[in-house]
Amino acid sequence: MKLLFIGDVVGDAGVAFVKEKLWRIKKEHGIDITVINGENSAQNNGITSDSFAELIRVGADCITTGNHCFRHRGIEGLYASEPFLLRPANYPEGVAGKGSAVIDLGRTRVAVVNLLGTMYLESLDNPFGEIDRLLEELDTPNIFVDFHAEATSEKKAMGFYLAGRVTAVLGTHTHVQTADETVLEGGTAYITDVGMTGPERSVLGVETSVVIEKFRYHRPVQFRVSKSPCFLNGVIVTFDERNGRASAVERLIVR
Ligand SMILES: [Fe+2]
Ligand SMILES: [Fe+2]
Repeated sequence: MKLLFIGDVVGDAGVAFVKEKLWRIKKEHGIDITVINGENSAQNNGITSDSFAELIRVGADCITTGNHCFRHRGIEGLYASEPFLLRPANYPEGVAGKGSAVIDLGRTRVAVVNLLGTMYLESLDNPFGEIDRLLEELDTPNIFVDFHAEATSEKKAMGFYLAGRVTAVLGTHTHVQTADETVLEGGTAYITDVGMTGPERSVLGVETSVVIEKFRYHRPVQFRVSKSPCFLNGVIVTFDERNGRASAVERLIVR
């Protein structure tokens, strides 16, 4: 089977680009399941019920998020009611929503887990301990982990920690696709960062002049999504659904 994972979709432009390209990617590559990180899919960062609904409508099976998951006021209710909208699993108990979902395809079940790194990000519960707990509960060998983290070292460590225990560890959050995709020992697909989907000539999706001003003068600035043409960053993981082992991981950039 093949799972397509699309990196952080940025703003209306990113969502529209997914809408334009996804059906063709699915057809060309024979994709069975699509997972999208939607933590920046709203126009001003975060996710809204509209951007979530649109990503599902255009063909996603499950939406993961990250450090911007609760940016919009009142969004907790959406996490509580949508089983295929995830927030990082290592948020404290009592926080709305959940950090894993199982997609039932009839002949097989595929689990998606969302975790947040704790280095240079929020000091949530330890993601390594959290995934150990989750792996005891999940009753399918097909497990895809979106590890939303800043530090490459934390992501690499998670990849090796889960090698042979999950189907894939896919890093997100930096919005820059890394070229280290590999299948680790035991059949675990790994990449440090899948990248982003949205305006390409931008700083992580944001208008370049705004970010330059911030770095040059340290002034508070209002981030605006760049108007440059979009690209899509993703990976396709090929795996055997009978044992959950990945055989290939391929990077994808669509312009
Ligand atoms: Fe992001
Ligand atoms: Fe993030």
